[in-house]
Amino acid sequence: MKFLIFLGSARDSTPPRPARLGLRVSRACEYFFNLDHEEHSVEIIDPLDYELGPAFKPHFSYAKSRVPKDLQALSEKIQAAHGYVMVSPEYNHSMSPALSHLLNHFGSSLFSYKPSTIVTYSAGQWGGTRAAMGMRSFLSELGCLPVSAMIHIPHAQQVFNEEGRVPEGVDEAQWQGYFSRALNQMLWWALAAKKQSEGVNPNELSKVFTKNPSQRNAP
Ligand SMILES: Cc1cc2nc3c(=O)[nH]c(=O)nc-3n(C[C@H](O)[C@H](O)[C@H](O)COP(=O)(O)O)c2cc1C
Repeated sequence: MKFLIFLGSARDSTPPRPARLGLRVSRACEYFFNLDHEEHSVEIIDPLDYELGPAFKPHFSYAKSRVPKDLQALSEKIQAAHGYVMVSPEYNHSMSPALSHLLNHFGSSLFSYKPSTIVTYSAGQWGGTRAAMGMRSFLSELGCLPVSAMIHIPHAQQVFNEEGRVPEGVDEAQWQGYFSRALNQMLWWALAAKKQSEGVNPNELSKVFTKNPSQRNAP
């Protein structure tokens, strides 16, 4: 199965130092997931690799033949994936704007009926826990329900080096255990969702709106 790790920082300047802790944390997610699960694939989605255009225009607002190639490529990756690891720093006690902006470009139908894992971090002591609270409702609305276990990393610059590995003096096994708990919850739900979707088409059972979101309204 395929999993995407969304790197929730597009910050390529300093201060604050160090720059883009999110890259280390995303690489750590990739490393720990691969340690346990060679049979599945993971890919880091870096917002700096995608040209989103100056004005906000989501994937679903383009005529099919005119979707910019970056947006189309990412939409196909999202659709093909079986689960998502959402990595976010805490900016002013909230989820990263780079992550919400990137995700807002795609409709929930691409993410729906697949699980996600919330991963937050900070340079300080709280590990992004306050950002994580808002992510629960955001990801639920997107349809990729977050599993109950979350990963929070305080002082991420001391826990992971630029390659996403723990430096000397940090207990890798403890961090592996911590990551595994949340990532394996996601994997369990992804396996279950895949099996169930093969038997029952979720969009047949719970009809999607065809013309207007108001079709979902209470009578
Ligand atoms: C605009 C901004 C707001 C921030 N707000 C918080 C915050 O509310 N809580 C926190 O623990 N750290 C906060 N920080 C510090 C970040 O934890 C730290 O800069 C981290 O490296 C950001 O992740 P990034 O390097 O991947 O962008 C903030 C940083 C920035 C740039």
